[in-house]
Amino acid sequence: MFERTIFFKEFLKNSGSTGAVLPSSKALSKAISSVIIQSTNKIAYKKPLRVLEVGAGTGVFSQEIIRNLTADDFFTIVEICPCFSKLLKEKLEKFMKRPDCPTIRIVTQDFLEFNDDNQYDFIISGVPLNNFSSKFVDKFIKQVKAITHKNGLFSYFEYTALRRFKHVFYFGKKLEHIQGLTRYFTKEIYPYRLEKKRVLWNFPPASVNVIKFQE
Ligand SMILES: C[S@@+](CC[C@H](N)C(=O)[O-])C[C@H]1O[C@@H](n2cnc3c(N)ncnc32)[C@H](O)[C@@H]1O
Repeated sequence: MFERTIFFKEFLKNSGSTGAVLPSSKALSKAISSVIIQSTNKIAYKKPLRVLEVGAGTGVFSQEIIRNLTADDFFTIVEICPCFSKLLKEKLEKFMKRPDCPTIRIVTQDFLEFNDDNQYDFIISGVPLNNFSSKFVDKFIKQVKAITHKNGLFSYFEYTALRRFKHVFYFGKKLEHIQGLTRYFTKEIYPYRLEKKRVLWNFPPASVNVIKFQE
């Protein structure tokens, strides 16, 4: 309950970047982080795994991601909001004490300014891309590509049908903005999609997209 209150307060302060009134459900958290276990079962990834989560909020995905990793692996979280970062540090402390916990690093920074020499096997995003301009999304995706390993995967979620709904009910500048986003997603993201999983048990219902940018 306490975490939901913090989340809702952040939504009231920064509705654009927080992007939701409530943290994601357990079902969505499992669907978005299961990409790690499913892919490592299919392809032999070189250990240690490097996983990055961007936009962790209160850490609902983070906990599931940790469950998919082992002590050899590295897990980096990039969260723009200092209030969420503080909460994450407190919340993940109990995991860090466990012998099977990956090495965890929490960075409080805008992902667009995040500098790292590591190449990640998995990038998992909770950032509400549909709330931003196509220019922002383009910079975000370029940053994802720059730090993804050649076999790496990017997974993110979108609220089902939200953009379609906006196409019908928005007009003027707002409609142009949403049309620009749809063009961007259609040309630059969806052609690289390996999988789309619908998660009805979330408010609002969402779809997880798993993307592989490099061949
Ligand atoms: C919709 S919330 C998702 C939180 C959590 N993953 C969940 O699903 O409940 C979006 C999160 O992305 C963070 N965020 C937004 N823009 C960001 C950016 N440019 N860099 C890093 N984090 C960002 C927000 O602060 C917020 O924690």
